[in-house]
Amino acid sequence: MTDSFKKIGVIGAGQMGSGIAHVCALAGYEVLLNDLSSDNVESGLATINGNLARQAASKKITEKDRKKAISLLGPAPQMEDLASCDLVIEAATENEAIKRNIYATICPILNPEGVLASNTSSISITRLASATDRPERFIGIHFMNPVPVMKLVELVRGIATADETYQAALGFIASLDKTVAVSEDFPGFMVNRILLPMINEAIYTLYEGVGTVEGIDTAMRLGANHPMGPLQLADFIGLDTCLSIMQVLHDGLSDSKYRPCPLLVKYVEAGWLGRKTGRGFYDYRGEEPVPTR
Ligand code: CAA
Repeated sequence: MTDSFKKIGVIGAGQMGSGIAHVCALAGYEVLLNDLSSDNVESGLATINGNLARQAASKKITEKDRKKAISLLGPAPQMEDLASCDLVIEAATENEAIKRNIYATICPILNPEGVLASNTSSISITRLASATDRPERFIGIHFMNPVPVMKLVELVRGIATADETYQAALGFIASLDKTVAVSEDFPGFMVNRILLPMINEAIYTLYEGVGTVEGIDTAMRLGANHPMGPLQLADFIGLDTCLSIMQVLHDGLSDSKYRPCPLLVKYVEAGWLGRKTGRGFYDYRGEEPVPTR
């Protein structure tokens, strides 16, 4: 644990928010999890329980660590419940309007000394900070999915982020046993600036009939030693998230090389968002995932 923060609030109990809450509790922080509905919070807590049990079963953590982490985790059905947190990490949907609404609600409630961080994977930290009452205590802390497994955290300072906030965030990330990569505040930061165009190109490769879903994924798994093929990874990240990151790159860098593939748009319009909805480039509803086209 770092001295700067003791109590952490996480807004958004989806795959990223629950993963963030999970690693914070394991590192010894008191963690409160918030989402739009109590059902979402409960399902986030259930996911964390399952993943902690998985880590204990494979001896990644001890049974004592697991129990302690569970005792430190709690629901925060209302945003008011986060008022006394030292750090609030927003991990809501990758949509600027939604994030701005959240800041408008949390800022008047949150302890004036509290730091606000966004787990945004691509939206400008400087712009998001300007929608808060504390741009100097606002920072981008971008975790990778699955949070309990991935070692990297991207740290992004906005133009107004104070050095004290940056130093506190560095200490916080180190206390989670994660490695920091510092990125300047430009669209997509580093990881998604590089990763998403690769995924988008894989979708074009499918769209243009160069390869099949399985062919493309096998090519990159065995030909480039990626742990997952790019279409499998797109389904894992969520196709809606992939599309919104491509849109941020396209709008923010004004270069046609970032245009989202029409096939990606079509899947999102169909509501086929990947693993979380049961269908994307693969259909996950059976025993084994099978390509949907
Ligand atoms: N919580 C806890 N543990 C987990 C977990 C979770 N959510 N997910 C997986 N694990 C653990 C498993 O229990 C397993 O542990 P053991 O080795 O002790 O058994 C280990 O991780 C490996 O998992 P699996 O055996 O299930 O499967 P795998 O070997 O195929 O690995 C993977 C799964 C780690 C996800 C691997 O496929 C991988 O690294 N994929 C690429 C992930 C990636 O690129 N992530 C970045 C996405 S981009 C991003 O996040 C940025 C963004 O903004 C979009």
